[in-house]
Amino acid sequence: MPVEFYLRDVTETDLPKRVEWINSDACERMNIARPVTLKEAQEWFARNHGSNKKKHFTIVDKENDRLIGIFGFTDIDEMHKNANCYLVIGEKEYLGKKISLRVFQWAFRKFFEEMQYNRIYGIIDEDNIPCLKMVESLGFVREGYLRQQAFRNGNFINRYLYAMLKEDWEKQN
Ligand SMILES: CC(C)(COP(=O)(O)OP(=O)(O)OC[C@H]1O[C@@H](n2cnc3c(N)ncnc32)[C@H](O)[C@@H]1OP(=O)(O)O)[C@@H](O)C(=O)NCCC(=O)NCCS
Repeated sequence: MPVEFYLRDVTETDLPKRVEWINSDACERMNIARPVTLKEAQEWFARNHGSNKKKHFTIVDKENDRLIGIFGFTDIDEMHKNANCYLVIGEKEYLGKKISLRVFQWAFRKFFEEMQYNRIYGIIDEDNIPCLKMVESLGFVREGYLRQQAFRNGNFINRYLYAMLKEDWEKQN
């Protein structure tokens, strides 16, 4: 049986889980400052809540209200109708169940149809295999190879730029 879930705006009570996931190994390959403290997360929440440049969501299991992960649009560019995005399936037992594909179907509908935006993109470390498999199976287009674009554990890391246009998504539907 596939896991039934929903997404809702992040709330302050979600922050301890958010901090736990960001600080865990799962987020090692993400472009995010770590570790974070709960206090920093609370400050982040106060700063960003209601911002029109970012929209952060929590993924929740419908059956038991358990928090599963986080999804967000960042760097929302109103003029050019594009945004960056991120996704973390934080609870280990929910990994590998294709939840990410359904989260993105939700995100595409919200972003392209409801918000009327045109381009969603992500920058992915070249060794983040689960994420690369996920974006490839969603039909994101690989647009670039960013040499030594990140610095992690004393090494420069190459990254890929992937994007999905509204017209790409419409062709799938
Ligand atoms: C990337 C991520 C969101 C994918 O979520 P998911 O719901 O588990 O996605 P899927 O179930 O579709 O699994 C993705 C693919 O990676 C594969 N995979 C999972 N773990 C793997 C591993 N350690 N090594 C190789 N492949 C792996 C899965 O088998 C699947 O491949 P398949 O399509 O060939 O079956 C999740 O791994 C995650 O939260 N990672 C940590 C945060 C992160 O890096 N986010 C992306 C950057 S924004």
